[in-house]
Amino acid sequence: MNQSPSETTPALELVELSKHFGNVVAVDRISLRVEQGEFFSLLGPSGCGKSTTLRMIAGFEEPTSGRLLLDGQEGSRLPPFKRNTNLVFQSYALFPHMTVRDNVAYGPRRARLSRTEVASRVEDALRTVRMWEYADRLPKALSGGQRQRVALARGLVNHPAVLLLDEPLGALDLKLRREMQIELKEIQRRVGISFVYVTHDQEEALTLSDRIAVMNGGRVEQLGTPEEIYNRPTTRFCADFIGEANLIEVRVGDRSGDGRVSVVLPGGGTALVGSVSPSSADSATATLVLRPSRVALDDKEPPHGAERAAIPVEVRRVIFQGSVVRVDLEGPEGVSLSASTSEADTSDLRVGRRMWAHWAPGETHLVEPTKSGTP
Ligand SMILES: Nc1ncnc2c1ncn2[C@@H]1O[C@H](COP(=O)(O)OP(=O)(O)OP(=O)(O)O)[C@@H](O)[C@H]1O
Ligand SMILES: [Mg+2]
Repeated sequence: MNQSPSETTPALELVELSKHFGNVVAVDRISLRVEQGEFFSLLGPSGCGKSTTLRMIAGFEEPTSGRLLLDGQEGSRLPPFKRNTNLVFQSYALFPHMTVRDNVAYGPRRARLSRTEVASRVEDALRTVRMWEYADRLPKALSGGQRQRVALARGLVNHPAVLLLDEPLGALDLKLRREMQIELKEIQRRVGISFVYVTHDQEEALTLSDRIAVMNGGRVEQLGTPEEIYNRPTTRFCADFIGEANLIEVRVGDRSGDGRVSVVLPGGGTALVGSVSPSSADSATATLVLRPSRVALDDKEPPHGAERAAIPVEVRRVIFQGSVVRVDLEGPEGVSLSASTSEADTSDLRVGRRMWAHWAPGETHLVEPTKSGTP
């Protein structure tokens, strides 16, 4: 895993943390650390164990095994209110009969802070989320985005060391969601506390996070910065889940020499690859990951040599998607792949046209093949 040792105590550390519900293994020996002030996301498909992980950190769920350290202290046995964490949900969970101010004041009042301290914290939190002007409104008189801001203020007002957010923007429409993403990131930077953010939206995770743990089936498949995860996926699942990917089953050719690996493409051509993940280390077949945005199309076969890898293809479909045009292609041995282009003029891309798809070998990655084996 890609974690550099740090001098400071991490805000949160999970060590082999698991949660079983009867026969269901919801979380399966997760280990990770979240640094002070880091925006850390748990990203994965529905049911992969994101919320369960978050609920264990918050103290609403007891781990079956493993350890959980908050600011270096053993935290697994602490009740939720004794933890320096706060959980923000997708559904806002505001009290409908209370004003915005009272909603935000609820936590500090329960913690028996002085009136002046409560008042100053509430104002501070509401100003942080730009909702101070709405302090006397009821939640029903607010828009979705405004309610979400109040929910965020409720999380911030207790001054947690770690703020836990479970799909907090899930109920918002796409445009508002994008606006709130930027705002959320700015607020996080300003207050400087660690965020652990749960989402199944890969674009959201890429936009917001300092680092991302990609989860699948209760386990962390890859952990790294957005760039690392997008540019160097280490498993087939990650390549497919994050961004668009062509996954081409190939035979692994030459592994010798200077450490560069070449593969045999459908149709028999060979190509170097950019990186080789441990998951494909010693296998005879593997999956070549090639982003559609990296695929160029040409009438002529590019000259042989190390600069471009190429396969002959036939255009199957041309799909206008707004800012890009996606071209679905069929290559030798029934392989299908997509190219996406932002070229304005794609009128010459007719269905049935024979072309060459080519790419820079350094931009491809080798991960494990499909379970069924040979390409
Ligand atoms: N209280 C429970 N009892 C039994 N099984 C549970 C319980 N809570 C969660 N699970 C199971 O644990 C697994 C992980 O659930 P979890 O809610 O953590 O997933 P998630 O990644 O948050 O998914 P989503 O994106 O749909 O919210 C699922 O298979 C779920 O059915
Ligand atoms: Mg969930």
